[in-house]
Amino acid sequence: MGSTVFATPGQGAFGNPAPGAPISGDPTAVIELRGITRIYSTGRLEVAALRGVDLDVWEGDFLAIVGPSGSGKSTMMNIIGCLDRPTAGSYRLGGTPVEQLSDDDLARVRGRAIGFVFQSFNLLPRTSALENVATPLLYQGVGRKERYARAQVALERLGLGDRLHHEPSELSGGQQQRVAIARALVTEPALILADEPTGNLDSQSGADVITLLHELNQAGTTIVLITHDSDVAVQALRQVHVRDGLLVQ
Ligand SMILES: Nc1ncnc2c1ncn2[C@@H]1O[C@H](COP(=O)(O)OP(=O)(O)OP(=O)(O)O)[C@@H](O)[C@H]1O
Ligand SMILES: [Mg+2]
Repeated sequence: MGSTVFATPGQGAFGNPAPGAPISGDPTAVIELRGITRIYSTGRLEVAALRGVDLDVWEGDFLAIVGPSGSGKSTMMNIIGCLDRPTAGSYRLGGTPVEQLSDDDLARVRGRAIGFVFQSFNLLPRTSALENVATPLLYQGVGRKERYARAQVALERLGLGDRLHHEPSELSGGQQQRVAIARALVTEPALILADEPTGNLDSQSGADVITLLHELNQAGTTIVLITHDSDVAVQALRQVHVRDGLLVQ
């Protein structure tokens, strides 16, 4: 496909210099949003969820996107994660204009480079925690034994070593949230997009998740954390605020 989105030897996952490689000039923007607009049309009603958003996220960044309910945070995550396309504006991911990528290309980028924590978890029902976390590795062609071993390690890291064979309906909301986080990090993605990852957790479990995100970030993972909670947001390296579909200072 001739894009720079995929890793080549000596490069990071987005085609940028690998961590530790000599970098001259400015840090590399992994995500560049320019004038991003997203209008939802439902019957006669049109909702402008995003109204011209400009945003840069750097390789190795830990950014919190903060804003009240309905301000457009999840809409922004869906666009950054290539799950949705903007109505207008341009988006470069790893230097490649996303609008030039086919749906197949986008699916490949998502599977290889991005780990998602969805606000509503999106776990497979009637499927064990272990199987849920192992599934993204299946799409990467990882063998069965290694899939389950890595999924188990990820779940243990989230404190769920004793819930491997529980299905989502047999887990609490906070436990399901931690399964979703384990699933996002099991592939060791270059970018983690986490939508309210502490929303269902008590303060100690929430703090543990933020610590884990810091550990991943220090190991080189770029993190975009979405939250309405300013106490959570201040723990990121930097914050942007969204109100009514616009970034504000
Ligand atoms: N699929 C959709 N169809 C129509 N309108 C939508 C759709 N998804 C979101 N919206 C509207 O777009 C606006 C932004 O929604 P979004 O989900 O991005 O907000 P949010 O900041 O994530 O809110 P929350 O903190 O409650 O999760 C809201 O007014 C919402 O009603
Ligand atoms: Mg949301």
